[in-house]
Amino acid sequence: MDNIYLSKKAEVLGVRKHTPTEWSFSLRLETETIPGQFVMVSLPGVGEVPISISGYNPNSIELTIRDVGKVTREVCKISPGDHLYIRGPYGNGFPLQEFVGRHLLIIVGGSAIAAVKPLVEHYMNNSQFQLDGMDIIAGFKSPRHILFHDELNHWKKKYKVRITVDSDEDYAWMGSIGFVVDYIKEVKSISEDTRAIIIGPPLMMTNSVRELLRHGVKKENTYLSFERHMKCGIGKCGHCRIRDKYVCLDGPVFNYDDVKELID
Ligand SMILES: Cc1cc2nc3c(=O)[nH]c(=O)nc-3n(C[C@H](O)[C@H](O)[C@H](O)COP(=O)(O)OP(=O)(O)OC[C@H]3O[C@@H](n4cnc5c(N)ncnc54)[C@H](O)[C@@H]3O)c2cc1C
Ligand code: FES
Repeated sequence: MDNIYLSKKAEVLGVRKHTPTEWSFSLRLETETIPGQFVMVSLPGVGEVPISISGYNPNSIELTIRDVGKVTREVCKISPGDHLYIRGPYGNGFPLQEFVGRHLLIIVGGSAIAAVKPLVEHYMNNSQFQLDGMDIIAGFKSPRHILFHDELNHWKKKYKVRITVDSDEDYAWMGSIGFVVDYIKEVKSISEDTRAIIIGPPLMMTNSVRELLRHGVKKENTYLSFERHMKCGIGKCGHCRIRDKYVCLDGPVFNYDDVKELID
């Protein structure tokens, strides 16, 4: 019988620095995945952490990792030619078919953009899955905290993308300033048929949901993705459990209507 905890060894093909604490790693790994899924990433002797897949093709995956603690700090030190150990992909991913033919509004805060990048690329690169337009509001702490500049600019060719920063610090920032929630009212295509995805810090998700509901977006058309502490990633240990939900199995993507008591 296969050992469900067994990881695959994956060579690091490339490393890209976004900010002083955030890096993307491309890894040689043949896998099939759905946008929104995550993998368990480990370094022997250090530990294992859940990380969203921020990009993929048939032979490789990309992970975007923020150095916050014991494991992520060590992972962020690796170089091309080194290896990481990967289990998964796990989790449900986004309901891609549900968004076809609809207006999709994506609201993300900080490094959460990594989790929606494969979803945007899915619609960008597959003309058979047409949306009725997409708006993206991406918020970052400051201009130097912006991730995926090139991708955001590329997405602007097909979709409406607003990048906003909480504060412009000392930079000559010519773009929007303020929280993502402040810009929801500027989305012209918003309607009660809009599908919305919100990912970011808990307060940002709560405020954004409230504002969306005020604009007529339905609870059942609003999706959130949760980050919780995990151990097994496969529904065995209970670490990620919130009431009757296992984030690793039932999520990480949830319909707001199913989890509203968890963020309100
Ligand atoms: C489904 C899922 C997808 C994720 N995707 C990504 C991703 O794409 N990129 C990324 O950088 N991180 C992602 N995370 C968060 C990542 O798993 C944690 O940052 C990581 O587990 C921290 O481990 P550590 O040993 O480095 O830090 P620790 O030493 O364990 O902790 C350092 C600090 O980070 C906090 N922390 C630990 N785990 C989490 C968590 N899950 N959420 C918020 N704070 C946490 C701790 O409370 C502590 O304050 C994801 C988490 C989940 C559940
Ligand atoms: S992480 Fe073990 S049950 Fe979800």
